[in-house]
Amino acid sequence: MALILALESSCDDSAAALVGSDRQILAQAVVGQNDAHRPFGGVVPEIAARAHVEILPGLVRQVLHEADVSIGEVDAVAATAGPGLIGGVMVGLLVGKGLALSADKPLIAVNHLEGHALSPRLVDVKLGFPYLLLLASGGHCQLLEVRGVGDYRRLATTIDDAAGEAFDKAAKLLELGYPGGPAIEELAKDGDPTAVPLPRPLVGTKEPHFSFAGLKGAVQRAVTSGEHRAEDIAASFQQAVVDCFVDRTKRALEKSDAPSLVVAGGVAANASVRSGLKQLAQDFDRRFSVPPGWLCTDNAAMIGWAGAERLAAGLVDELDAPARARWPLDPTGEKVRGAGVKA
Ligand code: KG4
Ligand code: ZN
Repeated sequence: MALILALESSCDDSAAALVGSDRQILAQAVVGQNDAHRPFGGVVPEIAARAHVEILPGLVRQVLHEADVSIGEVDAVAATAGPGLIGGVMVGLLVGKGLALSADKPLIAVNHLEGHALSPRLVDVKLGFPYLLLLASGGHCQLLEVRGVGDYRRLATTIDDAAGEAFDKAAKLLELGYPGGPAIEELAKDGDPTAVPLPRPLVGTKEPHFSFAGLKGAVQRAVTSGEHRAEDIAASFQQAVVDCFVDRTKRALEKSDAPSLVVAGGVAANASVRSGLKQLAQDFDRRFSVPPGWLCTDNAAMIGWAGAERLAAGLVDELDAPARARWPLDPTGEKVRGAGVKA
């Protein structure tokens, strides 16, 4: 059994974890920074980076203490090396390098997206490769065929906003505060998902790409019209996102014979998203897997697990491993018109 000490700092969550290659999570801690960012309605990169400087080292001490493990007993140090807000990535990666250097342990520079992509395998022992993955987070919305550790084929991406970003923008328009996803989901419980007519961008098109910018505009018009209850707008918006997910993933399932469908990333914490995709998997006779909510949103356990998978595959990094703001899982993935920097 290999023991991995893991760090995550790519956005606004500081996290540390101790994860075994036997899928045991010995200890983990996540400290969000919502209060610091809330007044700005979104994550402020420099505030996030400074907060990681203050929070991360204490979290490392905390997880080692909770698990009663010394740094000498870990087999490798895994740290998120991108993609994400570069200041925060640099903080976490450098803490990881310092620990690896001082304890003379291998460093594993983990792609945050690979953390999300492999996260279901931490809790679902039977989930083998390949699987079709809908990765929906605050910064990404992609359909990928996960063929193995470090082996990804991107089938689709968003041509504008990420799905979580759309939730956050809709929540801001409804004055629900940050982060928007959980707030929209809560409000939607009291709303009618058919009450407000909203578009389903790109639904029905041949390639399974996503688009959410138009949906944001439509939510804005619904809010300013003053004709709808906030609950109904939230429920209708959530339903529109689920409909887009289901239609686009259906397209991807037609292109992939992977036996399992998996959804991961922060937006996968949403119950309507989970049930919509579960139904789709059943319709296509594919196995369905989704991690528990705490493993969907950013955490270090998934980074530790990706570290364990990479260590088992002999994939360790040198101490000069770079911090990367952009780091696609499939570097050969076609550029999509309008995709901007979010490919
Ligand atoms: O994976 P994640 O924690 O961070 C990134 O890597 O981006 O995803 C965060 C995103 C945010 O946009 C947040 O609003 C969204 O996931 N999110 C949700 C829910 N929980 C988090 N979206 C919809 N419903 C939720 N319950
Ligand atoms: Zn994430």
